Amino acid sequence: MDVAPIWSTVLSFVFLGVGAVCLFLILKAQGRPQVEDYQRLARYHRWGGWLFSALFFLMFVFMLARIEDQWEESSARIAIHVALATALLVLIILKVSIPRYFPKLRQHLFLLGVSIYVAAFTMVGITAGYYLIWKYQEVPYLSHAELSPEMLETAMGKQLFIEKCSTCHLLENIMHPRSEESWEKIMNRMIELAAPRITRAEGGQILHYLALTHTPRSGREGSLLQMYCFPCHAQESEILVENYSRSDWREAVRRMREYGPDIIPEEKVGEIVDFLVQETAEGD
Ligand code: HEC
Ligand code: HEC
Repeated sequence: MDVAPIWSTVLSFVFLGVGAVCLFLILKAQGRPQVEDYQRLARYHRWGGWLFSALFFLMFVFMLARIEDQWEESSARIAIHVALATALLVLIILKVSIPRYFPKLRQHLFLLGVSIYVAAFTMVGITAGYYLIWKYQEVPYLSHAELSPEMLETAMGKQLFIEKCSTCHLLENIMHPRSEESWEKIMNRMIELAAPRITRAEGGQILHYLALTHTPRSGREGSLLQMYCFPCHAQESEILVENYSRSDWREAVRRMREYGPDIIPEEKVGEIVDFLVQETAEGD
């Protein structure tokens, strides 16, 4: 049982709205020097109070279901939200039982009501409010051009790379040099894929580290391999795959071009493929 965040957000705001009306009604009924229709205001307040409590219990049940699905240590924000919800449960039960069973404590009801509203307001504010801000603020696309230099540190990027990326990959499989643009695309994809385990800030550090240390070396004059492959690869044995057919090579060179379009010019692809086919056929 999961509710889309937008619906629990709407529900939370209805809940706060009902609470605000109740608070206003009781302020009006008890706070003014003269009130003619006290009974009517108090009655509306009571009905509103029941609606408020019902909405609270409904959301409390949804929340329990969500906690059940939670497989990670929650953030401080969520922990405070849960603590406030638990406190609210007790406060609301007290508030509805006093008029019924302990009428001598009636004079405390107003402060109890205000406490409930403050707790509810804070509880909703730090989650639903946060959600709305996050949703309507453009989530920035991570780009190496926009990282602010004082925030970045290569050592931290390396540490985070080792820590965060190794949960799914063997690191040596993902360390081949690529262009900055290619890393940028990958980091954005990995952050999405690994959500919420890699934050955008951490992703920024990792991108900085990779773009600085795992990009192509400048090409050297020399053989085709030296000019077009060794900027990213270290040895022939790594790239001269024996059993590749011509179409395999064409596909591979096209992919390599995506990782470093500046290094492998479009018009050279045919020549490179011919060379690779010839190189790898020689052994037969
Ligand atoms: C939750 C698991 C997970 C985490 C964590 C993760 N990856 Fe990946 N990665 C994948 C999967 C699945 C794919 C293949 C699907 C794809 O490419 O979108 C992939 C693909 C890749 C590729 C190959 C893409 C290509 O087009 O050649 C690279 C490089 C990569 N990841 C780097 C990283 C880096 C760097 C990190 C750390 C910031 C990282 N990954 C963290 C799951 C993960
Ligand atoms: C801009 C960097 C870059 C350049 C230039 C480059 N490569 Fe790669 N290469 C990569 C990356 C990144 C991988 C790992 C991801 C993958 O396998 O797609 C890789 C993987 C490979 C692989 C193993 C994957 C497979 O298809 O089985 C082969 C073979 C290869 N490259 C051959 C070449 C050859 C030949 C050249 C020269 C024509 C070349 N590469 C130039 C970045 C580059």
